[in-house]
Amino acid sequence: MTASRTVSARAHANIALVKYWGKRDAALNLPAAGSLSLTLASLTTTATVEASEQAADQLELHGHAVTGAALARFSAWADLVRQAAGAPGLRFRVISRNDFPTASGLASSASAYAALAVAVSRAAGLELSPRELSVLARRGSGSAARSIFGGLVVMLPGKRADGSDSHAEQLMPADELERSWPIAMVVAVVGGGRVKSLSSRAAMEHCAETSPLYAGWLASVPGDLAAARAAIERRDLHALGEVAEQSALTMHAAALAARPAVAYFRPATIALIDAVQELRRGGTTAFFTMDAGPHVKVLTTRAESAAVAARVRQVADVTQVIESGPGDGPAVVAG
Ligand code: PMV
Repeated sequence: MTASRTVSARAHANIALVKYWGKRDAALNLPAAGSLSLTLASLTTTATVEASEQAADQLELHGHAVTGAALARFSAWADLVRQAAGAPGLRFRVISRNDFPTASGLASSASAYAALAVAVSRAAGLELSPRELSVLARRGSGSAARSIFGGLVVMLPGKRADGSDSHAEQLMPADELERSWPIAMVVAVVGGGRVKSLSSRAAMEHCAETSPLYAGWLASVPGDLAAARAAIERRDLHALGEVAEQSALTMHAAALAARPAVAYFRPATIALIDAVQELRRGGTTAFFTMDAGPHVKVLTTRAESAAVAARVRQVADVTQVIESGPGDGPAVVAG
């Protein structure tokens, strides 16, 4: 029996400005196209992992044991680590905590699997490079591959069948953004009754199989990525914001056209889109984006973040507003 080892790691969520929506390989979780995101300092998951030769993997989120499909998904992912470490008997006891509401479409799987990739691999005795961590995080959740890096990040879909070239890369670190291009994001959490949203994983698959607009969505991604990268090089927030809105709306259009429809918007989502457009007409830098849930994230500048937050707070059914600057990649906080 080997001694147990405990590691804690913290990772930030990220919000895509050019969305990931669809896979080229479901088993290996390989994206069909690239994506581009901003890692957010204010949305954090901390995962504490104890590796030992106990009976089974255990996962606890906010003090509640995770069971069923989510635990099975974690165990299947943890098998990859056991295999890489040559330690088939190792089991992981995980305690995970988000410092933001765990709601669909709030990127909790991104920060969770990024923190897990760092903590679980290290607890198993592996020393992985950022690229290897990104590949590992991707197997848990496609967007988690991007949370292995801070600041502005691009996901490369890769070409290889084994997915070894499907990982994220940093475009601009958070400290450089803070210093020379202080962008920010305001997250408006939409409540107004619990809506059972389809998970992004299931929704993507359903959309790829049934939406007549899926092919058009996929065809739109390379152009949006090129435009976003060019905007970042020029530090042109208006151009980047416009791409972000187009990418989100094109993704949601493909989802809405799925049969049956995948509709994430709530009345407050539309009201928030209106509020952002109204802010922009008034001269404020503000651009919206939405993921697999009703919440709206607004890309803005650090200087205008408080004004954007004050405006979106007035929208009915907005239950929480989080302001965030760019965040760093994951960190080991203990162990
Ligand atoms: O990482 P997943 O499987 O939860 O998918 C994320 C999908 C979106 O959040 C809708 C888009 C994105 O690129 O993050």
